[in-house]
Amino acid sequence: MAAVAEQQTLNSKNPYLQGMYAPVAHEATCLELPVTGEIPADIHGSYVRNGPNPQRAPGAMHHWFDGDGMMHAVYLENGRAEYRNRYVRSQDFIDDTAGTCRVGGVMEPATLERSPKVYKDTANTDVILHNGQLMALWYISGHPVRIDPRTLEAMGEESFGGKLPRHVSAHSKTDPRTGEFLFFDYALYEPNMSCGVVGANNELQSFQTIDLPGPRLPHDMAFTENYFVLHDLPVVFTEQALRHHQWSIEVADQPTRFGVVPRSGRGNVQWFETDPCYIYHVINAWEEGDEIVMLGCKMVPNTHADGSAFGPYKNMVEVLALNAVPCEWRMNLRTGKCRARVLDDAIGEFPAINLSAGGLRNRYAYVQSIAPENTLKFDGIYKYDFFTGDKTLYRYEKGVFGSEVAFAPRIGAVDEDDGYILCFCIDEASQTSELRIWNAKAIEDGPVARVHLPERVPAGFHATWADASEWVGR
Ligand SMILES: [Fe+2]
Repeated sequence: MAAVAEQQTLNSKNPYLQGMYAPVAHEATCLELPVTGEIPADIHGSYVRNGPNPQRAPGAMHHWFDGDGMMHAVYLENGRAEYRNRYVRSQDFIDDTAGTCRVGGVMEPATLERSPKVYKDTANTDVILHNGQLMALWYISGHPVRIDPRTLEAMGEESFGGKLPRHVSAHSKTDPRTGEFLFFDYALYEPNMSCGVVGANNELQSFQTIDLPGPRLPHDMAFTENYFVLHDLPVVFTEQALRHHQWSIEVADQPTRFGVVPRSGRGNVQWFETDPCYIYHVINAWEEGDEIVMLGCKMVPNTHADGSAFGPYKNMVEVLALNAVPCEWRMNLRTGKCRARVLDDAIGEFPAINLSAGGLRNRYAYVQSIAPENTLKFDGIYKYDFFTGDKTLYRYEKGVFGSEVAFAPRIGAVDEDDGYILCFCIDEASQTSELRIWNAKAIEDGPVARVHLPERVPAGFHATWADASEWVGR
C-alpha cells in the first residue's frame, strides 16, 4: 500500500497529469455540436490533433511525452461539425492493453540492449495526411499508424509494403506538390540518422543513411523542392544514456549543423555550421538562387519557468516551458556558409503554415504565443507576414489557452492566407473545450465560430488540416 501511496504522491507532483493536461477517460462521438457564430460553409475536412492521454495512472516516473496517443478531431461539412476522439492504436498500445508490452516511458530505464525499440511507441506526437489518410507519428522515431481522417479508426502500423528499412520520426512531411512522404529518423545506434521518400502511391522510392559523429536528439526537418534539410543539434545523449539506455541528454559544446541532402537519394550531404542553438520546430524552407532558406523557432534561454515546486519533475517542467523566437537561416550551396538572422523577439512556438506552401517561399506563418507560466500554455496566436515584416496578434481571454493551429484553405482559395485557422481551446476554470475558427486574413477580429465540444480536449501536441478533397474513397 505504501508503494501505491508513494506513486500517487509522485503523480500529484507532475503538473502534466493535472488540470488542462489531465487525460480524458472516454472515447466519444458527438454528431451535433452547438456553435456560437457561424461555421464557414466553404471548408470541408477535419481539424485533427494528436497528443498524450495515458489510459492508466502512471506506475513510475512519467514524462508528458509518454502518454498513450489520442487523436481528437472535428469534422466540418456544410457549416456543421462532428467531434470524435480515439486512441492511436499503435502495436505497443495494443500490446500494453493485452499486458504484453515490455517497454515503458523515457524516465524509466530502457530494457533492450542496442535495440531500435527501447521505449513504448505511442505515436502520440504528430499527425499528417499522406496517400489520402492520416498518419500518426512519434517523436522518438517509431512506426507510423494509419488513421481514417473522418472516423479516426486506426488501420494499423504502416510499413510501406514491408519496405520501410527503419523508423519514422515525427515531423516527417508530405510535399503538397508531389504527394511524396519525406521522412527521417534518428537513433541511438549507427548510422544515427536516415531519410527517405515514399511516393504518393505509397511505395518506397529512396532511402539513405546519414552518418553523424554520434547519437543526437533532433526534433524536426525541413524540405525544399529538391532537398531535405536535416538537423544535427548540440543536444546529445550522455555517456550514461549510451551505457544504460536511459533517456539522459545534455547540451554539448558544439555548433548547430544542417545537412542538405538531395531528395533523389543520389549525391552527398552538404553540412552547414551555425551558432549553437536548439530548434524544436521548423516553419518552412525553400530554394532561392544558390541558397536554401529555412525558417524556424530558435530556442533562447528560458527565464519564465520555475520547476522547483514539482519535486522530481523540476527539470522536465523547466525544459518543457518553451522559449523561442522566429529565425531565418540561409545556407549557400556554393560557398558552404550559413547566415542566421532573428526575425522577431516575440516568444512563440508550434508554428503552422498553409501546407500548400510547404517547400516553397511562404509569406505567412501562425505561431503560438507562449504564456509566461511554469507549464507549456499558448496564450495567443501571432500571424507573421514575412514579406512586410508585420505581425498581428489574437490574445485569448484570461484563463483560456489554445493548441497548435492548422490552416484550412477556403474552397476556391486564391491567396496563401485565403482560408481559416482552427484550434482547440481550453477554459481552465470550467475545464471545457471549444474548436475555434478564425478568418486567417483577420485573426485579430476574433473567431468567426466557436464550436462547443462535449468534453475537455487535454493540451497536446501537433495538429493538421485534412482536407476532404484529398481523402481516399471520396
Ligand atoms: Fe514537435
